[in-house]
Amino acid sequence: MEKVQFTEERETMLGTLYGRALDARRSDPVLGDTAADEAVRRIDYDFARLGVNQDTAMSVVSRARAMDELACAWLAEHPDAVVLHLGCGMDTRVFRLDPPPTVHWFDVDYPDVIALRERLYPQRPGYSTIGSSVTDFTWLERIPAEHPALIVAEGLTMYLTPADGAELMRRLVGRFPSGLLVCDFFSTLGIRAQLLNPVVRRANAKLHWGIDDPHELERYGLHLVSCLDATDWAAGDVVARLPVASRLALRASALIPALRRMGRIGEWRF
Ligand SMILES: C[S@@+](CC[C@H](N)C(=O)[O-])C[C@H]1O[C@@H](n2cnc3c(N)ncnc32)[C@H](O)[C@@H]1O
Repeated sequence: MEKVQFTEERETMLGTLYGRALDARRSDPVLGDTAADEAVRRIDYDFARLGVNQDTAMSVVSRARAMDELACAWLAEHPDAVVLHLGCGMDTRVFRLDPPPTVHWFDVDYPDVIALRERLYPQRPGYSTIGSSVTDFTWLERIPAEHPALIVAEGLTMYLTPADGAELMRRLVGRFPSGLLVCDFFSTLGIRAQLLNPVVRRANAKLHWGIDDPHELERYGLHLVSCLDATDWAAGDVVARLPVASRLALRASALIPALRRMGRIGEWRF
């Protein structure tokens, strides 16, 4: 067993990992990330602590699935791409998407998070990890600059300050000839309501960067392609797995734009 002692934003990745593990234990999983379940079973940590349960796990896995689909579609057209998976935590996206070895995939997170990944997950051709804050920009010099880049950041932007987020976007866009950014983000209301999020509250993490309009990122050289509200990505088959009370709450929040847009997923080309 791997004993871990993460706090604040690093600890939140154990909540999303647990959400994917709980989904994998269902007879009708949405994402079916069995590697997440295996990792949870090898980590000595009280996973109940962050308040993630079978219901809230559905929002974790539906977000992950929606982002997997966007990433997969772009990668199918760009087999020579580099992938930057920022704030990767313990996410096994590289195993779920299983890109060909012509794709060079970099998982980036703080050094202690990457150290845990390296103890629990196998190596694979075309795969590297980088232990660094995404805002210590020297890590970017290690990425080959001549390929199109897929940048995926799930559950990361809200932990950055607006100034760090803006600088990160500028540097990413400036580094590569072209690419796609896929990330989720919170509105400023989502940032103000952060204490309603049990994982954030219990990990004592702080959220900073709220984005009310995805076009805001266009000032960094990105062009918005599409944007999904939280109630869009948690649609259909996922809703059917929720208890009636959660289904009604989701339907009600879908009617109120400010609630529906508290959490969104965007894709931008550059
Ligand atoms: C909510 S978790 C999401 C983890 C993973 N993407 C997932 O979906 O399971 C937030 C992650 O962002 C990472 N993170 C936050 N700020 C960071 C920074 N400045 N540099 C690198 N990683 C950061 C944390 O360490 C953590 O792994």
